[in-house]
Amino acid sequence: MNRQHITVGLDVGTTKICAVVADTSGKTAEILGFGVSPSTGLRKGIVINIDATVDSIKKAVREAEASSGIKIKSISVGISGAHIRGLYSSGVTGLRGKEVSGSDVKRSMDSAKAVYIPLEREVLHVIPVEYVLDGQDGITDPIGMSGVRLEARVHIITGAVSPMQNLLKCCEKAGFEVSDIVFEPLASAHAVLTDEERESGTILIDLGGGTTDVALFKDGSLRYASVIGVGGNHFTNDIAVGLRITASEAEKLKKTTGAAYERFVDDAEQMEIIQAGGQTRTLPRKYVAEILQPRCEEIFELIKEEIKKCRGCGIAICGVVMTGGASQLNGFDKLAEAVLALPVRSGCPGHINGLKSELRSPVYSTSIGLATYGYEHEVKDAAYAGKVSGLLGILTEWARDKIRNADYFNFNNRKEGGMLCLKSRR
Ligand SMILES: Nc1ncnc2c1ncn2[C@@H]1O[C@H](COP(=O)(O)OP(=O)(O)OP(=O)(O)O)[C@@H](O)[C@H]1O
Ligand SMILES: [Mg+2]
Repeated sequence: MNRQHITVGLDVGTTKICAVVADTSGKTAEILGFGVSPSTGLRKGIVINIDATVDSIKKAVREAEASSGIKIKSISVGISGAHIRGLYSSGVTGLRGKEVSGSDVKRSMDSAKAVYIPLEREVLHVIPVEYVLDGQDGITDPIGMSGVRLEARVHIITGAVSPMQNLLKCCEKAGFEVSDIVFEPLASAHAVLTDEERESGTILIDLGGGTTDVALFKDGSLRYASVIGVGGNHFTNDIAVGLRITASEAEKLKKTTGAAYERFVDDAEQMEIIQAGGQTRTLPRKYVAEILQPRCEEIFELIKEEIKKCRGCGIAICGVVMTGGASQLNGFDKLAEAVLALPVRSGCPGHINGLKSELRSPVYSTSIGLATYGYEHEVKDAAYAGKVSGLLGILTEWARDKIRNADYFNFNNRKEGGMLCLKSRR
């Protein structure tokens, strides 16, 4: 019988903390259990209260342990927030042999990574975008090709040191080792985008409670990303202030009667609200939509600015996939389609074994992606390594390369180096 290989994804969100346990020993990942607890120690995706966050992490993980029957020691945690930035870089190497080898690729990647990163920032991911061999661009796998000059073009994702350190501190104080720290849109994309969407130029919008992540995927990799500090909590606050009701009543109204656009609501429809003090009032349902519409339009204006920047990079966009809890607001997808002038679909995790119906919701895209993210790359890396040995037919050299360049075989979207530096700085 196969030994289980367990991975645990921990999404430390502004409104909830969710731990998902997956068995990744088979050909496909299987979800074994999960735990969720409300999050009170974060604002706009960033830890502002360590003790509250540690408590919520413990609760979520304990619940995940109980539902999966597995003792959790190490977790893969997601990070987001407006401090995340992306930059492009490239590095060149001359080829030593006639054919490109793993070590040539490693040297070109190392040279691309040699960019100035301010002390207060840390590298999260180094994502290969393409290789250029003797002027020929668009190469995704140069190994075994002939040439004299290899250039690697990479997308480097960085984050501010202190929010990252505080997140790690919370996980460690809760008693868990952090095996991986992953930029959240990469994880969400894993759970909701199809391979075709990732190839053809798709924008993923993750509308959470405190942040909205906008990420463009093209040719299989993340090409642009930005985090906007507005999310579903702002909708709730607007309703609470506009109707003079409590935040919990506003949250309930938003989910049951809210709409992104006032025309989506019939003029005759009525709703009941409970005001502070306990009095019940009957009002037109339209009132909630009238409050929410300007906020939705504001978010879409900010998203449009980000999409303009993507188009400025010369990348054609085929469509938009919306995920995250706040994307469930009634009519949000239709408004998105109208404002962004792009086809829009809702993204829910779905195709994973053992996925319970409660987890088939845009709220859990990030946590499920985190639990399966590293695993899927390992599978791809293994397949890639097999191809290299087959192509070259020189097994010994490949084995030597693989050992020497173990990092390189974490071929796509994996964090490199950054976490170690971060740990040593603490
Ligand atoms: N049916 C619904 N209609 C409208 N909004 C909803 C619905 N369900 C959940 N939400 C909103 O989704 C938000 C939470 O989404 P999510 O769980 O993705 O956020 P998070 O991961 O905790 O936060 P972040 O990613 O910003 O750190 C809340 O603001 C909640 O009110
Ligand atoms: Mg989130």
